[in-house]
Amino acid sequence: MKKKFLSLFLAGAMLISAGLAGCAKKQDSKKIGVAMPTKDLQRWNQDGAYLKEKLEAAGFTVDLQYAGNDIPTQQNQIESMINGGCKVLVIASIEGDSLGTVLATAKEKSIPVIAYDRLIMNTDAVAYYATFDNYKVGAIQGQYIIDTLKLDSTDGVYNLEIFTGDPGDNNARFFYNGAMDLLKPYIGKSLNVKSGQIDFETVATAEWSTANAQSRMDAIISGNYADGTKLDAVLCSNDSTALGVANALEAGYTGDYPIITGQDCDIANVKNMIKGKQSMSVFKDTRTLADQVVEMVKAIMDGKKAPTNDTTTYNNGVIVVPSFLCTPVFADASNYKKILVDSGYYKEADLA
Ligand code: BGC
Repeated sequence: MKKKFLSLFLAGAMLISAGLAGCAKKQDSKKIGVAMPTKDLQRWNQDGAYLKEKLEAAGFTVDLQYAGNDIPTQQNQIESMINGGCKVLVIASIEGDSLGTVLATAKEKSIPVIAYDRLIMNTDAVAYYATFDNYKVGAIQGQYIIDTLKLDSTDGVYNLEIFTGDPGDNNARFFYNGAMDLLKPYIGKSLNVKSGQIDFETVATAEWSTANAQSRMDAIISGNYADGTKLDAVLCSNDSTALGVANALEAGYTGDYPIITGQDCDIANVKNMIKGKQSMSVFKDTRTLADQVVEMVKAIMDGKKAPTNDTTTYNNGVIVVPSFLCTPVFADASNYKKILVDSGYYKEADLA
């Protein structure tokens, strides 16, 4: 009797474990790797969380990794996603140029790669690119400065300083060019860059770091604006650099607050907009981008072509990567409630 019970028990256990193994296998066949650059910036936490939530809701399992802005860590994470059986990789690179070798392995194993927000450069192993219209982000910022200072009708000359992002992030040049293509015709006329720091390499901010932007702004203030010269506008490509500029102004500048641009609508920066310490930001709804990527992943997994809306702009040095560009939206203190709170992106209390 005891023996019979034992063999029944064993048979049952085997059935259950076979079932579980089948289940795990089924799930593994739908595993998606998501590689994010860093947890240091609010946006990537949100991007990662939305992607995980939406991919899981669509029936996938997700291996989500953050690399602490360390390139070898990101390379290792991607390698382990490949070895761990991920079927598609979604990658927001730290440096666009540093993933060629690991992605060659992905290609060998027929694992399609979606470049997320930032283009991955100099490899043919990228199937798709999902991002916002990065040139337009810069154009919104540049046009804002032109309109607010009324550069088309003024007789005055206004002082401008310029901050953009990490030179290893392909987006940084798009943001810079989008703004500077509009602003350059005014420089030397109604716009003066007193520091003389204008070209991309000089105004780039390593790792998009708030501290790096702050120390460069400290030096610009003490060298050019400590004598009471008015600073009228600071073009900042994103919110983390805008925060550094605002911190430096707070510490070392006594004149009227200049126009400061930004991008991302990070909570700290929206608070600054409400307080009048940042003029505008550009809202890129990470939910929209995540939705788009889920559509891409589904299409790839179904063996179909993913939806794209731009097949000419994003040349990564080897191929033109078929892209989907989402639309960036102008944000300031007058519309933040509508676009950020009413849309459920933030709660009013987050911004208090
Ligand atoms: C993103 C921006 C972000 C910046 C710094 C860029 O690639 O497009 O939204 O502010 O990286 O993380």
